Amino acid sequence: LAHLVVAIDGPSGSGKSTVARRVAAALGLRYLDTGAMYRAVTWWALERGVDLADTERVAQLARELRLEQGLDPEIETLSVDGADIAAAIRTSRISAAVSAVATNLGVRAELVARQQAVARAGGVVIEGRDITTVVAPDAPVRVLLTADEQVRLSRRALEVHGSADADAVDATRDQVVRRDADDSTVASFQQAADGVDVVDSSLLSLDETVAAVLKLVEART
Ligand code: C5P
Repeated sequence: LAHLVVAIDGPSGSGKSTVARRVAAALGLRYLDTGAMYRAVTWWALERGVDLADTERVAQLARELRLEQGLDPEIETLSVDGADIAAAIRTSRISAAVSAVATNLGVRAELVARQQAVARAGGVVIEGRDITTVVAPDAPVRVLLTADEQVRLSRRALEVHGSADADAVDATRDQVVRRDADDSTVASFQQAADGVDVVDSSLLSLDETVAAVLKLVEART
């Protein structure tokens, strides 16, 4: 298992970050959250007052980004030029802007290259939108984690607003449905690519979802 790469993709609210962390911890592997990298570029660009529509400038920022990202599945550490941004990248301001950065092909080229360096070293669970197809298409274990839209909306509403009532669900719709639609223009994570196993977590608890992924790891290694 020491050099194993587990690739996990899925839409927002599918629970993939939590599941990927738990799988990595269970297997003693490292964990790479690629969404956090797109969020970090977005934070940095907004911090510097760069217009996100200026694709060349934003791509240049991505190439210059001095990002330090911990790979421990139990604790998230993320800093840019020594400034801790682990909390700052989770704000709705960043969630609302991140697709504009993620659809920048220059940014993707840079971040995919960094992610592939981690994949080459091995011993890691990598999670995102294009991991099973672009970053690590040769990974022995590739999983698409899905859940019904309604389930994803209520999970995200609970996470962000502490409630899954109708108002909270409506408030997260833009963050989930619109973001997935935008992200889908550059990464295909709505359907499983050839050879990718689908785990639908709509009717599963977190523990059951983790167990389903661990079972796939066992079957494929
Ligand atoms: O997973 P998370 O919600 O943190 O991802 C934030 C954003 O980063 C996504 O909405 C998407 O725009 C982008 N992303 C991506 N490719 C990945 C991971 C994330 O485009 N592999």
